[in-house]
Amino acid sequence: MARILLVDDEPSILNVLSTLMKSEGHESVAARGGEMAQEVLLGDRFDLMISDIRMAPVDGLQLLKTARHNRPEMAVIMLTAYGSVETAVNAMKEGAFDYVTKPFKVDELLMTVQRALEYTRVHNENEDLRRQLETRYQFENIVAESPAMRRVCEIIGRVARTDATVLITGESGTGKELVAQAIHAHSARKGRRFLPINCAALPEPLLESEMFGHVKGAFTGAVASKEGLFEAASGGTIFLDEIGAMPAGIQAKLLRVLQDRQVRRVGSNDSTAVDVRVIAATNDKLEELIKTQAFREDLYYRLSVIPIELAPLRERREDIQPLFNHFLRHELRANDPMPSVDPAAAIALERYDWPGNVRELQNAARHALAFANEGVIQRDDLPVKILNAVSALPAEDVLDSDMKGRSLRFFLRAKEREYLSQVLKSFDGDKEQAAKALNISLATLYRKLPDAEE
Ligand SMILES: Nc1ncnc2c1ncn2[C@@H]1O[C@H](COP(=O)(O)OP(=O)(O)OP(=O)(O)O)[C@@H](O)[C@H]1O
Ligand SMILES: [Mg+2]
Repeated sequence: MARILLVDDEPSILNVLSTLMKSEGHESVAARGGEMAQEVLLGDRFDLMISDIRMAPVDGLQLLKTARHNRPEMAVIMLTAYGSVETAVNAMKEGAFDYVTKPFKVDELLMTVQRALEYTRVHNENEDLRRQLETRYQFENIVAESPAMRRVCEIIGRVARTDATVLITGESGTGKELVAQAIHAHSARKGRRFLPINCAALPEPLLESEMFGHVKGAFTGAVASKEGLFEAASGGTIFLDEIGAMPAGIQAKLLRVLQDRQVRRVGSNDSTAVDVRVIAATNDKLEELIKTQAFREDLYYRLSVIPIELAPLRERREDIQPLFNHFLRHELRANDPMPSVDPAAAIALERYDWPGNVRELQNAARHALAFANEGVIQRDDLPVKILNAVSALPAEDVLDSDMKGRSLRFFLRAKEREYLSQVLKSFDGDKEQAAKALNISLATLYRKLPDAEE
């Protein structure tokens, strides 16, 4: 069944068309005239529009334009009076799927409808696939299996096209620098430099001259003038890491740079215009630093034009296995075969809480690879810290007989659901409490619940 919008200024034709579509099992909406159709079109979705060409004041060609612009996924068939084929051809140039001359033969019309629907179905499926592939593999080096990470990739794709200032937050090791690099690498600035600076690593005077530069004699030891990172990154991107640790004096200067897009070297009276995109990152809760006045609120708003939050790995467990494989692949030498991961090892990885997030997982992969024998990574090849933590978790009877021969993914899903049901039951079905106890978001819990089968 398809949804079809019928447009004509003659009620009798609309009646005939409605009856025909209904007899084919389609649902249709009739709009009397182009004006009404434009309104209906913008408020609703259809698979197909069948429209007369000659109407007033809004004619079929105008309507076609609105449709192509706002509903490009919808096919359009034009109806044209016998003898005005030229207009119909114009309509096809404007993106109509086909035209049928009036008075129409029922068979011919229905055939055209069928072809149009078939075409849009295939076309839209392809589009969906292409879009999925794009967001998934847009960034070759970012593994994004979980909905949360895919969303982050979407945002990266979108902000990369702009010069907006970005603030990336997330626990240590969640991939903040990787995301910052991806934004730069997919922006128009990619040919210029990406310069990171760690605001927690240098004492205030050094950080200041590092960022903004200094002139000769500005302070003891300033034997020559030196350009700062803002100047060096001109045309490119500067990455201010651990921005929460930035001293108050420098916060004030940074704010001015963001406002005026000019820097003044330490000890100089002149400013230079700079064209630099700023990306900042922190694992501090800046809102709390603002409350204790350790961080300027005005600077916070300047920085967080586009906020990107990276969830801790334990809240996006779908990423664990793909990331582990990704790191194994990276660590292997050119001709080494990819090792397999024993189910018991995979389960340990899935159950562990990953306080060090992706970086800890990366280290675990290195560790496991160094200890693995004969191309198999066993549970015992994982770092001892992980094994101990997982052993302390409540036991699961992991090898039910009906699981034999199932794929690892199936098995882990089943076990996960079993565990979720148990926890949920222990909280009398209170999903909010259960999510809290499980240390996952409520949205994640809903998605994973047994009745939310894929
Ligand atoms: N989604 C991901 N896909 C592939 N690799 C990732 C992903 N997330 C993180 N990594 C890798 O994990 C490591 C840690 O990431 P990164 O240094 O970007 O984290 P961070 O948030 O900046 O950490 P910190 O707060 O400690 O500075 C890096 O080697 C990075 O390439
Ligand atoms: Mg970092």
